[in-house]
Amino acid sequence: MLELVPITESIGTDVRGVDVTAGLSDSDFERVYRAWLDTTILLVRGQDMTPAQHIEFTRRFGEIYTYTRSQFNDQEYPEILILSNKKENGKPIGSAYSGRVWHSDGHFLADPPVGSMLYAREVPPVGGDTWYGNMYAAYDALPERVKERIEDLRVVISRVQSRPYNYPDRPAPTPEERAEWADVSHPVVRVHEETGRKALMVGGNVPWRIEGMPEEESLPLVTFLQEFAVQPRFTYRHTWQPGDILLWDNRSAMHRATYYDHVAHTRLMHRTTITGRRTTAAAA
Ligand code: SIN
Repeated sequence: MLELVPITESIGTDVRGVDVTAGLSDSDFERVYRAWLDTTILLVRGQDMTPAQHIEFTRRFGEIYTYTRSQFNDQEYPEILILSNKKENGKPIGSAYSGRVWHSDGHFLADPPVGSMLYAREVPPVGGDTWYGNMYAAYDALPERVKERIEDLRVVISRVQSRPYNYPDRPAPTPEERAEWADVSHPVVRVHEETGRKALMVGGNVPWRIEGMPEEESLPLVTFLQEFAVQPRFTYRHTWQPGDILLWDNRSAMHRATYYDHVAHTRLMHRTTITGRRTTAAAA
């Protein structure tokens, strides 16, 4: 029987008593979907999913965002992005170092994906955990004067500047990429489209700037907000077991991958990414 248990006081729901490959009834799915919106991340342990089942389960939450230029998409199932240090025939099969700063996925895009579902296939015995932070809780805890000050501000995010932080193992952006990747700006206080709640969205440990604000004023404000957002009281560190699924709401959560010994151990994770469009009748 479906059971929804808080992971910590401030973030996440542990979804128990389900086999996602068997399918969830519409009413169970609605409870799970609501818990995702309300608590920003969902954990489902002990699942044995094929890539096709992973895609099918993801589609209940919305359409899949397929990376069009990623060499790390699964060859048979391009909807799945591989995060791994494994190699086949001497070539990496996945992105080995991505996401090791606090971020929400695709924050450098004008229309970022709404969520991601990460599935653990192989995990190291130690390390390779993922941190999650609840940005509703972070916003709610801000002093009123700070809330007033940031209410209408926008943060400017540069994809070019992000690259070495988000993907330290990838080459620097080419001149073509630099020309193509325009900066984007997003509200510092994001109003979630489905819940109407406010979330603090100031990007990761990257020195973003506030639109229209002098650098000497912007840098301390952004740095303060970034540090405030990821205090232990708003966060949860997940230590993976094979078969774990973690789904995060990109509109209200940030996350950060951590290091592990890449020589001694392997880590193989499959990720699907969700656009803002829902596809199921249950979603209506
Ligand atoms: C990510 O999607 O940012 C990576 C998370 C992880 O590998 O733990």
